[in-house]
Amino acid sequence: MQTAEHADTQALSRYRSIFAPSTRRERKANFEDYWKFSQNHSGEILEEEQSLTKKKTKLAEFKTQAVRSKSPLPDPEVFYRNFVNLKDDPKTFDRKTLLLTCIYKFARHEWVGITAAWDYLPQLKDCKSITDKISRYHIAEEFCHVRLFHEMFETFHLDRVEWVPLGKWMRRIYAVFPYFPEFVMAAPAFVTELMGITFYMHVTRMLDDIFPDEPEAAQRIRELLNEIMVDELAHIGQRRNFMGPISTWFAPLMIRPLFKAFFADIPESSLLLDVNQMIRDAKAFNYSEVNKELMERTWVPSYCRLETQA
Ligand SMILES: [Fe+2]
Ligand SMILES: [Fe+2]
Repeated sequence: MQTAEHADTQALSRYRSIFAPSTRRERKANFEDYWKFSQNHSGEILEEEQSLTKKKTKLAEFKTQAVRSKSPLPDPEVFYRNFVNLKDDPKTFDRKTLLLTCIYKFARHEWVGITAAWDYLPQLKDCKSITDKISRYHIAEEFCHVRLFHEMFETFHLDRVEWVPLGKWMRRIYAVFPYFPEFVMAAPAFVTELMGITFYMHVTRMLDDIFPDEPEAAQRIRELLNEIMVDELAHIGQRRNFMGPISTWFAPLMIRPLFKAFFADIPESSLLLDVNQMIRDAKAFNYSEVNKELMERTWVPSYCRLETQA
C-alpha cells in the first residue's frame, strides 16, 4: 500500500523548479504549445467585451447557480467605506470584511494594469507574432478574472462594488509598463504573476477559518478562486517562457522588493497574511505544491516537467 508520504514524494518528483534552465528552441516550442492550450482552454476572444467565449459561459454558470451567504457582512458599510481607500483603522474590521477589502485592493491593481495593457496591445486579429497574440489573449483572461472577483463580492451581498481607477500617478506608472522592451519587463511581469498565484493560494487556505459559519459561500469563493488559479498557473509558465537566462537569474532577486512594495500599499494584508512566508513560497514555487485538480487543467512549460526531460 502506498503511504501518503510516498505519494507526496512521487508528486514532488514530477516537476522541476519554475527557474529551471531552458534553451531558446525550447521556449519557441513552448510558446506554440501554450498558444494551442490557451485557445482550447478559454475559447474565442470577444474583443468588444474584453472576454473569451468559454470563460463567459463559465461565469454564466456561476451566475445561474449563484450562491449567496446566509448573512450579510456584520457591517457592510465598513466594507463600502474602506474598499477603495482605507478610511478606518483596519484593526477594527471583522476578518470577513478585512479579507474582502484586501481581495478587492489586490484585484483593483490587476484591473488597472490590464486596462493599460489592453489599450496598448493590438487586437488579436492584427497581432503578427505568436507572442503578441498570447499577450492580447492573456489580458482578455485577466478581464474575465475581474468578473469572477466581482462575483465573490456579490456572494457576500456586496452589490455596489465598482472598479475604481487608481490615482493619477499610479495610473501613469502602469500605463508606461507596456512600452518597456520585453527583455526588461520579462522578469517583473513574471514576478507579478507569481505574486498572484501565491496570494490566491494563501487566501484559499484561510477561507474555512474566516467563514466558519458560511460553508457554502466559502466553497463558492474557493471555486471562483480555482477558476482564476487555473489560468494564473498557466500564466506563470507562459511568463516564465519569456525569460532567457539573465531574467531567470534576476527574477528571484526581485521577489522580495516587489512583494514588499506591493503589499505595503494594501495595509489589510499585514493583518491577514504572512508576507514573508509568501515571499519564501514564491521563491520556492514548485507545481508539486499545487492541488492535483488544478494541475490537470493547467499548462506547464516542458522544461519544468520532469517526465519530458528524459
Ligand atoms: Fe491575474
Ligand atoms: Fe495572470
